[in-house]
Amino acid sequence: MQDLKPHEIVTELDRYIIGQDKAKRSVAIALRNRWRRRQVPVELQDEIAPKNIILIGPTGVGKTEIARRLSLMTDSPFYKVEASKFTEVGYVGRDVESMVRDLVELTVNAVRQSEQAAVQDKARSIAEERMLDLLLPKSGAAEPVRRDGVAEVGLEVVSSGEEQPSTREKLRRMLHEGKLDNRYVDLDVPDRSLPMVEIFSNVGMEELGINFKDMLGSLMPKNVKRRKIKVPEAMQTLIQEEAQNLVDMEKVVRTAVEKVEQSGIIFLDEIDKIVGKSQGHGPDVSREGVQRDLLPIVEGSTVNTKYGPVRTDHILFIASGAFHAIKPSDLIPELQGRFPIRVELNALGREEFVRILREPRNALVIQYIAMLRTEGVELTFTDDAIERIATVAQEVNERTENIGARRLHTLMECLLEEVLFDAPREDLTRVLVDAGYVDAKLEPIKKDEDLSRYIL
Ligand SMILES: Nc1ncnc2c1ncn2[C@@H]1O[C@H](COP(=O)(O)OP(=O)(O)OP(=O)(O)O)[C@@H](O)[C@H]1O
Ligand SMILES: [Mg+2]
Repeated sequence: MQDLKPHEIVTELDRYIIGQDKAKRSVAIALRNRWRRRQVPVELQDEIAPKNIILIGPTGVGKTEIARRLSLMTDSPFYKVEASKFTEVGYVGRDVESMVRDLVELTVNAVRQSEQAAVQDKARSIAEERMLDLLLPKSGAAEPVRRDGVAEVGLEVVSSGEEQPSTREKLRRMLHEGKLDNRYVDLDVPDRSLPMVEIFSNVGMEELGINFKDMLGSLMPKNVKRRKIKVPEAMQTLIQEEAQNLVDMEKVVRTAVEKVEQSGIIFLDEIDKIVGKSQGHGPDVSREGVQRDLLPIVEGSTVNTKYGPVRTDHILFIASGAFHAIKPSDLIPELQGRFPIRVELNALGREEFVRILREPRNALVIQYIAMLRTEGVELTFTDDAIERIATVAQEVNERTENIGARRLHTLMECLLEEVLFDAPREDLTRVLVDAGYVDAKLEPIKKDEDLSRYIL
Protein backbone atom coordinates (compact mmCIF):
# COMPACT_ATOMS: atom_id res chain seq x y z
CA MET A 1 0.00 0.00 0.00
CA GLN A 2 1.39 3.40 -0.77
CA ASP A 3 0.73 7.05 -1.32
CA LEU A 4 -2.71 7.03 0.21
CA LYS A 5 -4.60 10.30 0.20
CA PRO A 6 -5.57 11.73 3.58
CA HIS A 7 -9.18 10.62 3.40
CA GLU A 8 -8.07 7.16 2.35
CA ILE A 9 -5.78 6.95 5.34
CA VAL A 10 -8.65 7.95 7.61
CA THR A 11 -10.96 5.40 5.98
CA GLU A 12 -8.35 2.71 6.54
CA LEU A 13 -7.89 3.75 10.18
CA ASP A 14 -11.66 3.76 10.62
CA ARG A 15 -11.68 0.04 10.01
CA TYR A 16 -9.87 -0.55 13.26
CA ILE A 17 -10.24 2.50 15.43
CA ILE A 18 -13.52 3.97 16.56
CA GLY A 19 -13.84 7.73 16.89
CA GLN A 20 -10.75 9.88 17.51
CA ASP A 21 -11.40 11.71 14.26
CA LYS A 22 -9.16 14.65 15.03
CA ALA A 23 -6.17 12.43 15.70
CA LYS A 24 -6.81 10.43 12.56
CA ARG A 25 -7.04 13.56 10.47
CA SER A 26 -3.83 15.03 11.76
CA VAL A 27 -1.75 11.90 11.29
CA ALA A 28 -3.26 11.47 7.84
CA ILE A 29 -2.20 14.99 6.89
CA ALA A 30 1.27 14.43 8.30
CA LEU A 31 1.64 11.20 6.38
CA ARG A 32 0.49 12.76 3.15
CA ASN A 33 2.84 15.68 3.69
CA ARG A 34 5.72 13.22 3.50
CA TRP A 35 4.64 12.44 -0.02
CA ARG A 36 3.88 16.05 -0.95
CA ARG A 37 7.29 17.20 0.11
CA ARG A 38 8.96 14.71 -2.16
CA GLN A 39 7.07 16.16 -5.14
CA VAL A 40 8.09 19.80 -4.76
CA PRO A 41 11.20 21.26 -6.42
CA VAL A 42 14.38 20.18 -4.71
CA GLU A 43 15.39 23.67 -3.56
CA LEU A 44 12.14 23.99 -1.71
CA GLN A 45 12.24 20.48 -0.23
CA ASP A 46 15.00 21.47 2.13
CA GLU A 47 12.94 24.33 3.48
CA ILE A 48 9.90 22.29 4.36
CA ALA A 49 10.35 21.08 7.89
CA PRO A 50 8.12 18.36 9.26
CA LYS A 51 5.43 19.45 11.70
CA ASN A 52 5.81 17.10 14.58
CA ILE A 53 2.71 15.96 16.42
CA ILE A 54 1.84 15.07 19.99
CA LEU A 55 -1.19 12.87 20.54
CA ILE A 56 -2.61 13.43 23.99
CA GLY A 57 -5.26 11.29 25.55
CA PRO A 58 -6.08 9.12 28.54
CA THR A 59 -4.96 5.53 28.69
CA GLY A 60 -6.57 2.95 26.45
CA VAL A 61 -8.20 5.24 23.91
CA GLY A 62 -6.28 4.20 20.82
CA LYS A 63 -3.04 6.18 20.68
CA THR A 64 -0.73 3.23 20.24
CA GLU A 65 -3.30 1.49 18.10
CA ILE A 66 -3.29 4.41 15.66
CA ALA A 67 0.48 4.17 15.40
CA ARG A 68 0.36 0.44 14.79
CA ARG A 69 -2.15 0.74 12.00
CA LEU A 70 -0.37 3.69 10.49
CA SER A 71 2.88 1.78 10.28
CA LEU A 72 1.19 -0.91 8.21
CA MET A 73 -0.17 1.46 5.61
CA THR A 74 2.76 3.67 4.78
CA ASP A 75 5.64 3.29 2.45
CA SER A 76 7.72 5.66 4.53
CA PRO A 77 10.22 4.12 6.91
CA PHE A 78 8.33 3.88 10.18
CA TYR A 79 9.66 3.06 13.60
CA LYS A 80 7.81 3.00 16.89
CA VAL A 81 9.66 3.25 20.16
CA GLU A 82 8.68 3.76 23.79
CA ALA A 83 10.36 6.83 25.19
CA SER A 84 10.43 5.13 28.57
CA LYS A 85 12.98 2.72 27.13
CA PHE A 86 15.56 5.43 27.39
CA THR A 87 15.15 5.76 31.13
CA GLU A 88 15.26 2.11 32.02
CA VAL A 89 16.88 1.25 35.28
CA GLY A 90 19.61 -1.33 35.26
CA TYR A 91 22.09 0.23 33.00
CA VAL A 92 22.55 3.68 31.64
CA GLY A 93 19.46 4.34 29.59
CA ARG A 94 19.63 3.20 26.03
CA ASP A 95 21.17 5.93 24.04
CA VAL A 96 18.59 8.05 22.34
CA GLU A 97 20.27 8.08 18.96
CA SER A 98 19.69 4.35 18.73
CA MET A 99 16.18 5.02 17.45
CA VAL A 100 17.61 6.51 14.31
CA ARG A 101 19.95 3.56 13.93
CA ASP A 102 17.09 1.15 14.37
CA LEU A 103 15.06 3.00 11.79
CA VAL A 104 17.91 2.80 9.30
CA GLU A 105 18.46 -0.87 10.02
CA LEU A 106 14.79 -1.62 9.46
CA THR A 107 14.75 0.33 6.24
CA VAL A 108 17.89 -1.31 4.88
CA ASN A 109 16.28 -4.69 5.47
CA ALA A 110 13.06 -3.65 3.83
CA VAL A 111 14.80 -2.20 0.79
CA ARG A 112 17.01 -5.25 0.47
CA GLN A 113 14.01 -7.52 0.58
CA SER A 114 12.19 -5.61 -2.09
CA GLU A 115 15.31 -5.52 -4.29
CA GLN A 116 15.72 -9.23 -3.85
CA ALA A 117 12.13 -9.80 -4.77
CA ALA A 118 12.69 -7.76 -7.92
CA VAL A 119 15.50 -10.05 -9.10
CA GLN A 120 13.71 -13.27 -8.21
CA ASP A 121 13.25 -14.38 -11.81
CA LYS A 122 16.83 -13.83 -12.74
CA ALA A 123 18.02 -15.47 -9.55
CA ARG A 124 15.81 -18.43 -10.26
CA SER A 125 17.23 -19.02 -13.68
CA ILE A 126 20.82 -18.80 -12.45
CA ALA A 127 19.98 -21.09 -9.58
CA GLU A 128 18.47 -23.54 -12.00
CA GLU A 129 21.70 -23.77 -13.95
CA ARG A 130 23.60 -24.35 -10.75
CA MET A 131 21.17 -27.01 -9.76
CA LEU A 132 21.60 -28.78 -13.08
CA ASP A 133 25.36 -28.62 -12.59
CA LEU A 134 24.89 -30.29 -9.25
CA LEU A 135 22.65 -32.96 -10.68
CA LEU A 136 24.85 -33.75 -13.64
CA PRO A 137 28.18 -35.47 -13.16
CA LYS A 138 31.20 -33.53 -14.27
CA SER A 139 32.00 -34.08 -17.89
CA GLY A 140 34.77 -36.47 -18.74
CA ALA A 141 33.97 -38.57 -15.73
CA ALA A 142 37.44 -37.74 -14.52
CA GLU A 143 36.02 -37.63 -11.07
CA PRO A 144 35.54 -41.16 -9.93
CA VAL A 145 32.03 -41.73 -8.83
CA ARG A 146 32.16 -41.61 -5.11
CA ARG A 147 30.86 -44.53 -3.19
CA ASP A 148 29.77 -42.64 -0.12
CA GLY A 149 26.31 -42.00 -1.30
CA VAL A 150 26.94 -39.09 -3.60
CA ALA A 151 26.53 -41.46 -6.46
CA GLU A 152 22.78 -41.57 -5.99
CA VAL A 153 22.51 -38.07 -7.17
CA GLY A 154 20.56 -38.17 -10.34
CA LEU A 155 22.93 -40.56 -11.93
CA GLU A 156 20.45 -43.02 -13.28
CA VAL A 157 19.27 -40.46 -15.75
CA VAL A 158 22.58 -39.79 -17.32
CA SER A 159 25.10 -41.99 -18.86
CA SER A 160 28.61 -41.15 -17.82
CA GLY A 161 30.88 -39.36 -20.19
CA GLU A 162 30.32 -36.20 -22.15
CA GLU A 163 27.49 -34.11 -20.97
CA GLN A 164 24.94 -34.00 -23.69
CA PRO A 165 22.94 -30.79 -24.06
CA SER A 166 19.91 -32.94 -24.51
CA THR A 167 20.57 -34.67 -21.24
CA ARG A 168 20.71 -31.35 -19.52
CA GLU A 169 17.43 -30.32 -21.11
CA LYS A 170 15.82 -33.59 -20.17
CA LEU A 171 16.92 -33.05 -16.62
CA ARG A 172 15.65 -29.50 -16.69
CA ARG A 173 12.24 -30.71 -17.74
CA MET A 174 12.22 -33.25 -14.94
CA LEU A 175 13.19 -30.52 -12.53
CA HIS A 176 10.32 -28.35 -13.70
CA GLU A 177 7.87 -31.21 -13.47
CA GLY A 178 8.94 -31.90 -9.93
CA LYS A 179 10.15 -35.40 -10.73
CA LEU A 180 13.39 -34.77 -8.91
CA ASP A 181 11.75 -33.54 -5.76
CA ASN A 182 12.78 -36.57 -3.78
CA ARG A 183 16.41 -36.49 -4.84
CA TYR A 184 19.18 -35.18 -2.66
CA VAL A 185 22.07 -32.98 -3.68
CA ASP A 186 25.17 -31.91 -1.83
CA LEU A 187 25.21 -28.26 -1.10
CA ASP A 188 27.53 -25.99 0.84
CA VAL A 189 25.44 -24.10 3.28
CA PRO A 190 26.57 -21.48 5.77
CA ASP A 191 27.22 -23.02 9.12
CA ARG A 192 25.23 -21.10 11.64
CA SER A 193 26.84 -22.51 14.72
CA LEU A 194 29.04 -19.70 15.91
CA PRO A 195 28.40 -20.02 19.62
CA MET A 196 31.41 -18.08 20.73
CA VAL A 197 30.25 -14.90 19.07
CA GLU A 198 27.10 -14.91 21.12
CA ILE A 199 29.11 -14.01 24.21
CA PHE A 200 29.51 -10.47 23.06
CA SER A 201 26.64 -8.16 23.47
CA ASN A 202 26.26 -4.91 21.70
CA VAL A 203 25.77 -2.89 24.83
CA GLY A 204 28.06 0.10 24.85
CA MET A 205 29.21 -0.49 21.33
CA GLU A 206 26.08 1.00 19.92
CA GLU A 207 27.30 4.54 19.86
CA LEU A 208 30.21 3.51 17.71
CA GLY A 209 27.85 2.11 15.20
CA ILE A 210 29.72 -1.12 15.37
CA ASN A 211 28.05 -4.43 15.44
CA PHE A 212 30.40 -7.00 16.87
CA LYS A 213 28.63 -9.91 15.35
CA ASP A 214 28.79 -8.42 11.89
CA MET A 215 32.39 -7.49 12.33
CA LEU A 216 33.52 -10.88 13.49
CA GLY A 217 31.30 -12.51 10.96
CA SER A 218 33.09 -10.81 8.14
CA LEU A 219 36.56 -11.27 9.63
CA MET A 220 36.27 -14.95 10.11
CA PRO A 221 36.38 -17.18 7.12
CA LYS A 222 32.89 -18.01 5.97
CA ASN A 223 32.03 -21.18 7.69
CA VAL A 224 30.37 -23.51 5.30
CA LYS A 225 29.23 -27.01 5.76
CA ARG A 226 28.41 -29.53 3.09
CA ARG A 227 25.00 -31.00 3.61
CA LYS A 228 22.65 -33.27 1.78
CA ILE A 229 19.51 -31.44 0.94
CA LYS A 230 16.42 -32.34 -1.01
CA VAL A 231 16.19 -30.72 -4.41
CA PRO A 232 13.29 -28.30 -3.77
CA GLU A 233 14.86 -27.03 -0.57
CA ALA A 234 18.27 -26.75 -2.21
CA MET A 235 16.67 -24.82 -5.02
CA GLN A 236 15.30 -22.29 -2.52
CA THR A 237 18.73 -21.90 -0.94
CA LEU A 238 20.35 -21.38 -4.32
CA ILE A 239 17.75 -18.82 -5.38
CA GLN A 240 18.28 -16.94 -2.16
CA GLU A 241 22.03 -16.97 -2.59
CA GLU A 242 21.80 -15.77 -6.15
CA ALA A 243 19.29 -13.07 -5.25
CA GLN A 244 21.71 -11.86 -2.61
CA ASN A 245 24.53 -11.78 -5.13
CA LEU A 246 22.46 -9.90 -7.66
CA VAL A 247 21.49 -7.16 -5.26
CA ASP A 248 23.89 -4.28 -5.06
CA MET A 249 24.19 -3.68 -1.33
CA GLU A 250 25.78 -0.30 -1.76
CA LYS A 251 22.79 0.87 -3.68
CA VAL A 252 20.44 -0.64 -1.13
CA VAL A 253 22.15 1.27 1.66
CA ARG A 254 22.14 4.49 -0.31
CA THR A 255 18.43 4.15 -1.08
CA ALA A 256 17.59 3.24 2.49
CA VAL A 257 19.50 6.13 4.02
CA GLU A 258 17.88 8.52 1.62
CA LYS A 259 14.44 7.16 2.37
CA VAL A 260 15.02 7.58 6.08
CA GLU A 261 16.33 11.11 5.68
CA GLN A 262 13.59 12.21 3.32
CA SER A 263 10.50 10.50 4.61
CA GLY A 264 11.27 8.67 7.84
CA ILE A 265 8.74 8.69 10.66
CA ILE A 266 9.50 7.95 14.29
CA PHE A 267 6.64 7.31 16.65
CA LEU A 268 7.65 8.19 20.19
CA ASP A 269 5.18 6.45 22.41
CA GLU A 270 4.78 7.14 26.13
CA ILE A 271 6.52 10.46 25.90
CA ASP A 272 4.90 11.54 29.17
CA LYS A 273 7.11 8.94 30.88
CA ILE A 274 10.14 11.13 30.31
CA VAL A 275 8.52 14.08 32.01
CA GLY A 276 9.08 14.73 35.67
CA LYS A 277 11.76 16.06 37.88
CA SER A 278 14.56 13.66 38.40
CA GLN A 279 15.32 13.14 42.05
CA GLY A 280 19.00 13.55 41.57
CA HIS A 281 19.76 10.19 43.15
CA GLY A 282 18.85 6.60 42.64
CA PRO A 283 19.44 4.49 39.61
CA ASP A 284 16.89 6.12 37.35
CA VAL A 285 18.34 7.87 34.37
CA SER A 286 17.38 11.52 34.47
CA ARG A 287 14.23 12.00 32.47
CA GLU A 288 15.06 15.54 31.69
CA GLY A 289 18.36 14.28 30.42
CA VAL A 290 16.53 12.08 27.99
CA GLN A 291 14.48 15.03 26.80
CA ARG A 292 17.65 16.98 26.32
CA ASP A 293 19.19 14.15 24.34
CA LEU A 294 16.09 14.10 22.18
CA LEU A 295 16.35 17.76 21.29
CA PRO A 296 19.10 17.62 18.68
CA ILE A 297 17.57 14.59 17.01
CA VAL A 298 14.16 16.20 16.72
CA GLU A 299 15.71 19.48 15.73
CA GLY A 300 17.90 17.93 13.09
CA SER A 301 21.39 16.60 13.51
CA THR A 302 23.62 13.92 12.13
CA VAL A 303 23.61 10.48 13.67
CA ASN A 304 26.35 8.04 12.92
CA THR A 305 25.17 4.62 11.98
CA LYS A 306 26.95 1.64 10.64
CA TYR A 307 25.55 2.59 7.25
CA GLY A 308 27.12 6.01 7.45
CA PRO A 309 25.94 9.37 8.75
CA VAL A 310 22.20 10.02 8.67
CA ARG A 311 20.67 13.46 8.91
CA THR A 312 17.50 13.76 10.96
CA ASP A 313 16.30 17.20 9.80
CA HIS A 314 13.34 15.85 7.88
CA ILE A 315 12.33 12.90 9.96
CA LEU A 316 8.79 13.32 11.24
CA PHE A 317 8.20 12.68 14.92
CA ILE A 318 4.80 11.71 16.24
CA ALA A 319 4.78 11.55 20.02
CA SER A 320 2.03 10.27 22.21
CA GLY A 321 1.30 10.17 25.87
CA ALA A 322 -1.47 9.94 28.42
CA PHE A 323 -0.39 13.08 30.26
CA HIS A 324 -2.83 12.51 33.08
CA ALA A 325 -0.82 13.83 35.99
CA ILE A 326 1.39 16.07 33.90
CA LYS A 327 0.83 18.35 30.96
CA PRO A 328 2.69 18.79 27.73
CA SER A 329 3.81 22.12 29.16
CA ASP A 330 5.84 20.15 31.69
CA LEU A 331 8.13 19.04 28.90
CA ILE A 332 11.23 21.17 28.71
CA PRO A 333 10.30 24.24 26.68
CA GLU A 334 12.76 23.56 23.90
CA LEU A 335 11.14 20.22 23.23
CA GLN A 336 7.58 21.59 23.44
CA GLY A 337 8.41 24.03 20.72
CA ARG A 338 9.45 21.25 18.43
CA PHE A 339 6.06 19.60 18.55
CA PRO A 340 3.81 22.31 17.16
CA ILE A 341 0.76 20.16 16.56
CA ARG A 342 -1.21 18.95 19.58
CA VAL A 343 -4.13 16.62 19.16
CA GLU A 344 -6.36 15.42 21.92
CA LEU A 345 -7.98 12.03 21.90
CA ASN A 346 -11.28 11.73 23.69
CA ALA A 347 -12.05 9.50 26.60
CA LEU A 348 -14.28 6.66 25.49
CA GLY A 349 -17.78 6.11 26.77
CA ARG A 350 -20.59 3.63 26.45
CA GLU A 351 -21.48 4.48 22.85
CA GLU A 352 -17.92 3.99 21.68
CA PHE A 353 -17.60 0.73 23.59
CA VAL A 354 -20.61 -0.69 21.81
CA ARG A 355 -19.00 0.11 18.48
CA ILE A 356 -15.55 -1.06 19.54
CA LEU A 357 -17.00 -4.41 20.51
CA ARG A 358 -18.71 -4.84 17.21
CA GLU A 359 -17.26 -2.83 14.35
CA PRO A 360 -13.49 -3.06 13.98
CA ARG A 361 -12.19 -5.83 11.73
CA ASN A 362 -10.40 -7.26 14.70
CA ALA A 363 -13.22 -6.61 17.17
CA LEU A 364 -13.04 -8.56 20.40
CA VAL A 365 -16.37 -10.25 19.79
CA ILE A 366 -15.16 -11.48 16.40
CA GLN A 367 -11.97 -12.76 17.98
CA TYR A 368 -13.74 -14.80 20.63
CA ILE A 369 -16.24 -16.23 18.16
CA ALA A 370 -13.42 -17.36 15.89
CA MET A 371 -11.40 -18.81 18.75
CA LEU A 372 -14.27 -20.84 20.12
CA ARG A 373 -15.31 -22.01 16.69
CA THR A 374 -12.05 -23.91 16.53
CA GLU A 375 -13.35 -25.90 19.50
CA GLY A 376 -16.69 -26.56 17.88
CA VAL A 377 -18.54 -23.98 19.94
CA GLU A 378 -20.88 -21.59 18.17
CA LEU A 379 -20.80 -18.40 20.20
CA THR A 380 -23.44 -15.75 19.60
CA PHE A 381 -23.90 -12.34 21.16
CA THR A 382 -27.24 -10.62 21.19
CA ASP A 383 -27.37 -6.87 20.70
CA ASP A 384 -28.55 -6.25 24.21
CA ALA A 385 -25.64 -8.31 25.54
CA ILE A 386 -23.19 -6.04 23.75
CA GLU A 387 -24.99 -3.02 25.18
CA ARG A 388 -24.83 -4.50 28.66
CA ILE A 389 -21.10 -5.16 28.39
CA ALA A 390 -20.51 -1.61 27.22
CA THR A 391 -22.57 -0.23 30.07
CA VAL A 392 -20.71 -2.28 32.65
CA ALA A 393 -17.40 -1.19 31.15
CA GLN A 394 -18.43 2.42 31.42
CA GLU A 395 -19.60 2.00 35.02
CA VAL A 396 -16.50 0.18 36.18
CA ASN A 397 -14.30 2.74 34.46
CA GLU A 398 -16.12 5.49 36.32
CA ARG A 399 -16.06 3.82 39.68
CA THR A 400 -12.52 2.52 39.69
CA GLU A 401 -9.83 3.52 37.25
CA ASN A 402 -10.59 4.69 33.74
CA ILE A 403 -8.56 2.40 31.54
CA GLY A 404 -10.53 3.07 28.39
CA ALA A 405 -11.16 0.29 25.92
CA ARG A 406 -8.79 -2.03 27.75
CA ARG A 407 -11.66 -2.52 30.21
CA LEU A 408 -13.46 -4.43 27.51
CA HIS A 409 -10.66 -6.95 27.37
CA THR A 410 -10.86 -7.70 31.07
CA LEU A 411 -14.65 -7.83 30.99
CA MET A 412 -14.82 -10.21 28.06
CA GLU A 413 -12.29 -12.53 29.60
CA CYS A 414 -14.29 -12.59 32.80
CA LEU A 415 -17.54 -13.07 30.95
CA LEU A 416 -16.39 -16.00 28.91
CA GLU A 417 -14.06 -17.61 31.41
CA GLU A 418 -16.28 -20.61 31.96
CA VAL A 419 -16.81 -21.37 28.28
CA LEU A 420 -13.15 -20.85 27.52
CA PHE A 421 -12.29 -23.37 30.20
CA ASP A 422 -14.93 -25.95 29.39
CA ALA A 423 -14.45 -26.08 25.64
CA PRO A 424 -14.11 -28.46 23.98
CA ARG A 425 -16.88 -30.54 25.48
CA GLU A 426 -19.29 -32.67 23.54
CA ASP A 427 -22.48 -31.09 24.81
CA LEU A 428 -21.05 -27.61 24.44
CA THR A 429 -21.88 -26.62 20.88
CA ARG A 430 -23.89 -23.46 21.29
CA VAL A 431 -23.49 -20.59 23.68
CA LEU A 432 -25.84 -17.67 23.49
CA VAL A 433 -24.65 -14.59 25.31
CA ASP A 434 -27.64 -12.36 26.03
CA ALA A 435 -28.24 -9.61 28.54
CA GLY A 436 -29.21 -12.17 31.16
CA TYR A 437 -25.97 -14.06 30.67
CA VAL A 438 -23.95 -10.88 31.02
CA ASP A 439 -25.77 -9.83 34.15
CA ALA A 440 -25.39 -13.25 35.71
CA LYS A 441 -21.65 -13.24 35.13
CA LEU A 442 -20.74 -9.65 35.76
CA GLU A 443 -23.26 -8.19 38.21
CA PRO A 444 -22.04 -10.03 41.31
CA ILE A 445 -18.51 -8.85 40.71
CA LYS A 446 -19.54 -5.37 39.77
CA LYS A 447 -21.59 -4.90 42.90
CA ASP A 448 -18.66 -5.62 45.13
CA GLU A 449 -16.41 -2.65 44.65
CA ASP A 450 -13.36 -4.31 46.13
CA LEU A 451 -13.84 -7.35 44.00
CA SER A 452 -14.28 -5.34 40.83
CA ARG A 453 -11.09 -3.45 41.54
CA TYR A 454 -9.25 -6.71 41.34
CA ILE A 455 -11.08 -8.66 38.75
CA LEU A 456 -12.65 -6.39 36.18
N1 LIG B 1 -10.82 4.08 19.63
C1 LIG B 1 -10.62 2.76 19.67
N2 LIG B 1 -11.20 1.95 18.75
C2 LIG B 1 -11.01 0.63 18.79
N3 LIG B 1 -10.26 -0.01 19.70
C3 LIG B 1 -9.67 0.74 20.65
C4 LIG B 1 -9.82 2.16 20.67
N4 LIG B 1 -9.10 2.62 21.69
C5 LIG B 1 -8.53 1.57 22.28
N5 LIG B 1 -8.87 0.42 21.67
C6 LIG B 1 -8.46 -0.91 22.10
O1 LIG B 1 -7.85 -0.82 23.36
C7 LIG B 1 -6.53 -1.33 23.38
C8 LIG B 1 -5.60 -0.33 24.00
O2 LIG B 1 -5.46 0.82 23.20
P1 LIG B 1 -4.08 1.56 22.96
O3 LIG B 1 -2.97 0.60 23.10
O4 LIG B 1 -4.16 2.31 21.72
O5 LIG B 1 -4.07 2.53 24.20
P2 LIG B 1 -3.24 3.86 24.40
O6 LIG B 1 -4.13 5.00 24.05
O7 LIG B 1 -1.95 3.75 23.71
O8 LIG B 1 -3.05 3.84 25.98
P3 LIG B 1 -1.75 4.08 26.88
O9 LIG B 1 -1.68 5.55 27.14
O10 LIG B 1 -2.05 3.32 28.12
O11 LIG B 1 -0.58 3.55 26.13
C9 LIG B 1 -6.16 -1.61 21.96
O12 LIG B 1 -5.67 -2.90 21.86
C10 LIG B 1 -7.45 -1.49 21.17
O13 LIG B 1 -7.89 -2.77 20.80
MG1 LIG C 1 0.00 3.29 24.34
